[in-house]
Amino acid sequence: MNSQRLSPALGVEIVGFDAREPSDDDFGQIHEYLVEGAGVLVLRDQTLEPEQHIAFSRRFGDLFGEAEPLQNTVTRYLHPDHPQIFRVSNKNADGQPLGRSRAGNYWHSDVSFRLRPASVSLLYAIELPRIGGDTLFCSTTLAYDSLSKEMRFFLDRLEARHDFAINTQVGFSHEQIETDDLAGQNAAIHPVVRRHPDSGRKGLFVNPGNTSHILGLHEGESRMLLAFLYKRCTQPEFIYRHSWRPHDLVIWDNRCTMHYAIVDYDADRYLHRTTVIGERPIPAISTD
Ligand code: SIN
Repeated sequence: MNSQRLSPALGVEIVGFDAREPSDDDFGQIHEYLVEGAGVLVLRDQTLEPEQHIAFSRRFGDLFGEAEPLQNTVTRYLHPDHPQIFRVSNKNADGQPLGRSRAGNYWHSDVSFRLRPASVSLLYAIELPRIGGDTLFCSTTLAYDSLSKEMRFFLDRLEARHDFAINTQVGFSHEQIETDDLAGQNAAIHPVVRRHPDSGRKGLFVNPGNTSHILGLHEGESRMLLAFLYKRCTQPEFIYRHSWRPHDLVIWDNRCTMHYAIVDYDADRYLHRTTVIGERPIPAISTD
């Protein structure tokens, strides 16, 4: 296995690893590289059938679409034979064009509106435009670290609401939203700053795709603070831009990153994503 850093902020690339049947030692190393890459790992040259993609993903934990269903609204994007696989594509399962896919075309952290949001997501490239269709990743850990001590102290004590209803406003699914998704399990309160279970580092955990507001602040205060935090997270120094190659499997950690799919292409783009159910976010300060 050969590794190299992809940017000063985040990202490690691995060549010479086969995700089909890794030993426990190799998987342990992959896990370490993910932490070293600050939450983004690029595994080159993979050949993964859906079953193999799912089996590898299960090594990270239980999967959405299996242990817990995703929202009804997105079921039409799931693989017809494998509900664990989200088809990120501008074609439907029959190969018919869907028009410009807006999936992920906004900064977000996957499924953050659930009580146990996604830990890692694994996206495998099957068909790519010759040019364009990159994905941006930003480090919410570096963004947090860059703030003043006083600001970090203030944020450490705050909570925010995450709500799928916000996603329907900014996301790709707003035209065909299933209204039963707007109640119940698709909204949750989480700490604004969460501690990563592996690295122990603190990072911001709010995102424009799913966060509705910060609790306890006036509406205008919450809006301004969120806008400030998003700007800080997405400043260029904290970003890695991934230009996809066929057979890339990119793993990102939603607990310390956000991502954004750039829609700047007209050709077909088709990837498979699995999404691992994480733990309840660990608050920055102990609540004992
Ligand atoms: C996603 O947000 O899961 C999709 C990212 C991408 O299509 O690049």
